[in-house]
Amino acid sequence: MLGGGIPYGRTILVEGPPGVGKTILSLHFLIDGIVKNPKSPERGLFISLDEDPVDIIHEASVFGWNLEKLRNLGELFIIDSYSGRVGLRTKFVPAVPLKDSFDPETVLDLLEKICVEKKVKRLVVDSLSALIDGIEGKKRSKMIMKLISLCKRLSLTTFLTTGLGEDSGIERYGTHGVIRMSYSRDGNKTGRMLEIVKMRETPHYMGNIPYNIGKDGIELEIL
Ligand SMILES: Nc1ncnc2c1ncn2[C@@H]1O[C@H](COP(=O)(O)OP(=O)(O)OP(=O)(O)O)[C@@H](O)[C@H]1O
Ligand SMILES: [Mg+2]
Repeated sequence: MLGGGIPYGRTILVEGPPGVGKTILSLHFLIDGIVKNPKSPERGLFISLDEDPVDIIHEASVFGWNLEKLRNLGELFIIDSYSGRVGLRTKFVPAVPLKDSFDPETVLDLLEKICVEKKVKRLVVDSLSALIDGIEGKKRSKMIMKLISLCKRLSLTTFLTTGLGEDSGIERYGTHGVIRMSYSRDGNKTGRMLEIVKMRETPHYMGNIPYNIGKDGIELEIL
């Protein structure tokens, strides 16, 4: 669909309704960066804001992805930003510290620290919606643009997941590419489909491609 894949060092928005597979696609992207490049694995960082990372690790194991092993090898890093956001203490390391109120700046600081120290190449923020939850207007746009420019400065290839927003959302204009995941209906049967809405600098397939969530993760049906 992309004639060569996701462009290096760019930030891509992955948008779609609940349960469509945004988290699984994002994990698949991180895992592939490591296991499909055995000679020079691209280190990945997953920032978990929507789910407890312990649950993420368990969910991934169903697809044969051993996140704990990759963490122990120093190839994958996970930040628990979920517990701090919902006001829970956590034993997970690293985690965004529990404060009176959730501060996205703390997440960005920890993100930068880990990416620089560990030479991270691929980043997932799951989800952008949770990171900026409660921030409105100009402050919201500013925070999104700050995150996008930080990712660019750190030369990260990034997936930001989000629910379906309004068309005017700055995240859709400010990012390099937009991948939309959605549900399709055929009689009583519900399917899933994926569309490249935009990908700057890249000729790409225009249209929806059905996909399944199978035993190996996201599986696109052949074009
Ligand atoms: N092992 C599996 N095999 C097949 N399908 C699965 C499997 N595990 C999860 N799913 C499907 O994937 C969905 C969850 O995917 P995922 O968590 O990536 O969605 P999401 O878009 O991130 O949702 P949310 O917006 O709620 O975070 C489930 O609702 C289920 O339909
Ligand atoms: Mg999710």
